[in-house]
Amino acid sequence: MISVQQVSKHYGTNRAVNNISFEVAEHENLVLLGTSGCGKTTTLKMINRLIEPTRGQILIAGQDVTRQPAELLRRNIGYVLQNNGLFPHYTVAENIAIVPRLLKWDDARIQNRMHELLEKLHLSAAFLKLYPQQLSGGQQQRVGLARALMADAPVLLMDEPFGALDTITRSKIQAEFKDLDELQRKTIVMVTHDVQEAFELGNRICLMDQGAIMQIGTPAELLFKPANKFVREFLQAQRLQLELKAVLLQQVWDNLPTTTSTEAIKVLPADTSIWAAMESFEAGVVKFITVTKPGTDQAKTITFDQLMAAYHQYQNNLQHHE
Ligand SMILES: Nc1ncnc2c1ncn2[C@@H]1O[C@H](COP(=O)(O)OP(=O)(O)OP(=O)(O)O)[C@@H](O)[C@H]1O
Ligand SMILES: [Mg+2]
Repeated sequence: MISVQQVSKHYGTNRAVNNISFEVAEHENLVLLGTSGCGKTTTLKMINRLIEPTRGQILIAGQDVTRQPAELLRRNIGYVLQNNGLFPHYTVAENIAIVPRLLKWDDARIQNRMHELLEKLHLSAAFLKLYPQQLSGGQQQRVGLARALMADAPVLLMDEPFGALDTITRSKIQAEFKDLDELQRKTIVMVTHDVQEAFELGNRICLMDQGAIMQIGTPAELLFKPANKFVREFLQAQRLQLELKAVLLQQVWDNLPTTTSTEAIKVLPADTSIWAAMESFEAGVVKFITVTKPGTDQAKTITFDQLMAAYHQYQNNLQHHE
């Protein structure tokens, strides 16, 4: 869907982005990860031509982006700006309706779509006549997301969409984000400097440093097959938690016991991460979870301790194979 080919952006002698190439498949969520100044925003803005590359080529659905008028291109790409980028002198409703107005939608259509998104993003219709600064940071970020989703463009670019939020609000919005049906059918490039967020949300991660790509791969590939010392060290501090996010229940399936219990009240598909499964146990309330294998009628009911034992066995097996 998106193909970035040997693209560079130089500002004088500063190589903000230096000869990067990557592809994003349709309906994939690629996360650009890296420390401040490594070139994430510059890369994102070159995809919708807010910045023109010094060198290289970018194709969307096979078409060179420079061959299309920039305004037309941007209407087909949703964009969530870093720090939400809402216009302070426009009301929430006016902010959300910017692209549909450019597309000359009639009022009824704009209203319908706007209310549909408000509901999906848990925003009150009472916000519509307020100004962005009258909303909390989390609410503003949801409005920024609503604005980017309005025209239902097939491609969505998101720059630190959960950037300014405290940890609790952030994980709440992240969880909603993963479940949002609107996003399942989009091709997404998302920027973050937060490793945990990248592992939660990315199908693949593109780890950048000083304008260059250090490694592109699935979360598990970055963790278990780091391309170089930089990648290994970047993930080192949070390694344990990242592993729990990168390993899925299906990978420890064989190590899980085949007990059954009628007490299980939560059912999780086997493509859930170990971390998410751990979180779904609640002391005193959820003591058992049932893991199902999609496409089969197989199911296993397990306790928290059995899950941990299976995970440790999986880790031991990995080490013996090395
Ligand atoms: N308009 C510009 N003129 C000159 N240099 C720029 C310009 N825009 C960006 N840069 C430089 O390019 C580099 C990459 O910037 P970019 O905004 O892409 O970083 P980033 O990875 O998004 O960082 P952050 O996480 O802080 O948002 C930085 O060194 C920055 O100073
Ligand atoms: Mg940035």
